[in-house]
Amino acid sequence: MSWEQAWREGRTGWDAGASAPALVELVERGVLPDGRALVPGCGAGYDVFTLTSKKRRGIGIDIAPTARARFEAVRDELRGVAGRARLITGDFFAFEDEPFDVIFDYTFLCALDPSVRPQWAKKMDALLRPDGELVTLVFPVVDAPPLGQGPPFPVQPDDVRALLEPLGFEAIELAPVTRSHPGREGMEHLGRWRRRRSRGGV
Ligand SMILES: C[S@@+](CC[C@H](N)C(=O)[O-])C[C@H]1O[C@@H](n2cnc3c(N)ncnc32)[C@H](O)[C@@H]1O
Repeated sequence: MSWEQAWREGRTGWDAGASAPALVELVERGVLPDGRALVPGCGAGYDVFTLTSKKRRGIGIDIAPTARARFEAVRDELRGVAGRARLITGDFFAFEDEPFDVIFDYTFLCALDPSVRPQWAKKMDALLRPDGELVTLVFPVVDAPPLGQGPPFPVQPDDVRALLEPLGFEAIELAPVTRSHPGREGMEHLGRWRRRRSRGGV
């Protein structure tokens, strides 16, 4: 089944109806760069709206045209600064734009066939500013897909490390989270990735 078909048929069981609690906590800590934030595979866009502030514009991209109506409905409900957020309907892997200050992945990497994970990492690298931050809320950290065959395809924190470290990223944080959506407790690790500074560089 295509993603668009899933959206049309309302088979959106991944949609928790709210932003990831670990992202909300991160935004409350005020540690993320301002500027432009990208959420690939954003669905209804909760995380795009959480990242949007007076100083940060959230941009979501989703391949399914039908996701737009849900995105716009949530944006209308939230009002205020959420109105600055926008959605691009398109394929993340073909997406080109000015590099972003922050990119947030939640339930996007695990939605992809594991064979395309190296392309996911390359595209993240291409879309992130040199001093930007990639945030990966790694889910589901389990041995087998929760519902039989994926998606979601299980991901381990070390899988993400193995994808990103060869591209010059280092983890400034990679640990289990304390706040999750109900039913996802114990299955999420937060990864914050920045480019390694060259030793002795300017
Ligand atoms: C499992 S859902 C997660 C949605 C959202 N992140 C959430 O947590 O509610 C995965 C989303 O990725 C979108 N998607 C899948 N492949 C994509 C691609 N290549 N480019 C952009 N979006 C994609 C799907 O349409 C779907 O909305």
